[in-house]
Amino acid sequence: MFDLLNEYEISNRLKEKKLNYDLIFKKSTDSTNSDAKRISGENNLLIVAENQAAGKGRYGRRFYSESNGGLYFTLKINQINNININIGDITFFPLIAAVSVSRAVLSLCNTELPIKWPNDLLYKTSSGYKKLCGILTEASISAQNVSYVIIGIGFNINSDITDFPDDIKNTASSLKIISGKKYCRADILCGIVTHFTQLLYAPRGHLLEEYKKRLLLDIDISFPQNGKIIKGRAVNINENGNLIVKPENGEEIVIQSGEINFI
Ligand code: BTN
Repeated sequence: MFDLLNEYEISNRLKEKKLNYDLIFKKSTDSTNSDAKRISGENNLLIVAENQAAGKGRYGRRFYSESNGGLYFTLKINQINNININIGDITFFPLIAAVSVSRAVLSLCNTELPIKWPNDLLYKTSSGYKKLCGILTEASISAQNVSYVIIGIGFNINSDITDFPDDIKNTASSLKIISGKKYCRADILCGIVTHFTQLLYAPRGHLLEEYKKRLLLDIDISFPQNGKIIKGRAVNINENGNLIVKPENGEEIVIQSGEINFI
């Protein structure tokens, strides 16, 4: 399988799909999200790196980002670029990104990757769910105005299990591991960016409907709240994409941010 990830392969595909992003391709960087913050300008940006020395995950964690068949990129959406981003919109960016990845994988690889709230993409194996893709959204806000939103996506595509460090070997997977096939990362990247760009302008109701279809619901979960671990069943999402949980005892709880664990 042809899998060259370089500026030429990516920019050709962006042009073909009429995707209007300034492209920066790096062999190596600390983090494409950090690059996106450092680079100013008016155009929307797509920064792709073959390898990140300090890939950032959610909640200050490190994100494994070695060259071994992974795809690491960040989209930077600037306020001035004909999308009027309000503070209330920020919560939808992670959902747009998760649906875009899930759609692209279904159309290019014929594989369903369900979403674990809010935006991990997983695959169910005989030894439980494994994570293939994580998303880190950050925003710059001053005086209640959003200047930009950056959406960083890290996706294990052609990695082998031996590529992963010991601490994630049992929980991580890749498209190659689950399907036995290699994929063209430039195709998957441009597939994701195409869906992302379409979904930015889609009515929120449609987005939420599709997100919910791809979301793992009716599953038992636990999550931290006020220093305690609460157990319950994830039953639905609300109009902002927040998770609605029915605890073992008591009334439904709405989780706006944070992380859930399967039990
Ligand atoms: C998570 O699962 O915790 C989120 C991981 C997000 C990783 C991506 S890789 C590209 C971009 N650059 C980073 O430093 N992080 C995001």
